[in-house]
Amino acid sequence: MKIAVLGAGAMGCLYGGMLAEADNEVWLLDVWKEHVDAINETGLYIETSKGNKHIKNIRAAMKPSDIGVVDLVLVFVKSTITEIAIEQNKEIFGIDTIALTLQNGLGNIEKIGSVIGKKNIIAGTTAHGSTMLGPGKIRHAGVGKTHIGEIDGSVSARIQKIGKVFSDASIATDISENVMGLVWGKLMVNIGINALTAITGLKNGQLIDFKETEELLELAVAEAWHVAKIKGIQLPYDDPIAHTKEVCKATAENRSSMLQDVVNKRKTEIEMINGAIVREGEVLGLDTPINKVITNLIAVIQKKYS
Ligand code: PAF
Repeated sequence: MKIAVLGAGAMGCLYGGMLAEADNEVWLLDVWKEHVDAINETGLYIETSKGNKHIKNIRAAMKPSDIGVVDLVLVFVKSTITEIAIEQNKEIFGIDTIALTLQNGLGNIEKIGSVIGKKNIIAGTTAHGSTMLGPGKIRHAGVGKTHIGEIDGSVSARIQKIGKVFSDASIATDISENVMGLVWGKLMVNIGINALTAITGLKNGQLIDFKETEELLELAVAEAWHVAKIKGIQLPYDDPIAHTKEVCKATAENRSSMLQDVVNKRKTEIEMINGAIVREGEVLGLDTPINKVITNLIAVIQKKYS
């Protein structure tokens, strides 16, 4: 299968590398010149707990015209730039090209759809962890399941085909008939962890070591849970507060993606995470004061970047 990975960050490289290893034609598309050059010159290096991998049959590009139309686009850019990234790389989308978003936060499906139309979008979640080590080098930090599905929940031939391409590349993948539930399920975790770690500088596990941050985690997730219930979202687990705390434990040593953004003075995904709950709440006439406070605090941190 001819696959383009839009956004060759740590996660994009991980998926691209594994798919290339299984002999797919994989193109990584990114604006970071040093990284693109390193991959084209010496290949992609992936450190894993079971030894290192050197993937040579993978190409990288900065321009969509170097790639042409592909069968599948994995959208891995930050959700802050989804729309512009799709718009600027429209050339890789043909009439039957499928776009798969595994990004964090709400709104990516709509943003991708506003450029290429909704028909060819599928979505999902990933529980893999990956860290960028430098140009052309990543560390596969944690192994986890990938869930993908059609937005309407149907188990189509194309979703089964993509599931098989992933499984053949040793990416353990489940097909879901409730992909929006999964997206919201991941959202709950990001609501409880990301901004609170970014504000306090704590690692994920430390959030539940302090009763004050634990309480805020509980309150933020409870608000989002209420919104999800009113919207009729079926979460993939019973209790999002307990689940988020489990993720804190399972990823105890991680610095969340939002903490890393704040440390590196990058725009965060706050508007697609806690900010999205505030907006969803407003539409339904529900107050979400904790998420409002959290959203505003991150907004101020961002404004203070020098
Ligand atoms: O965004 C993140 O950092 C991750 O989604 C998670 C699960 C919170 C782990 O750090």
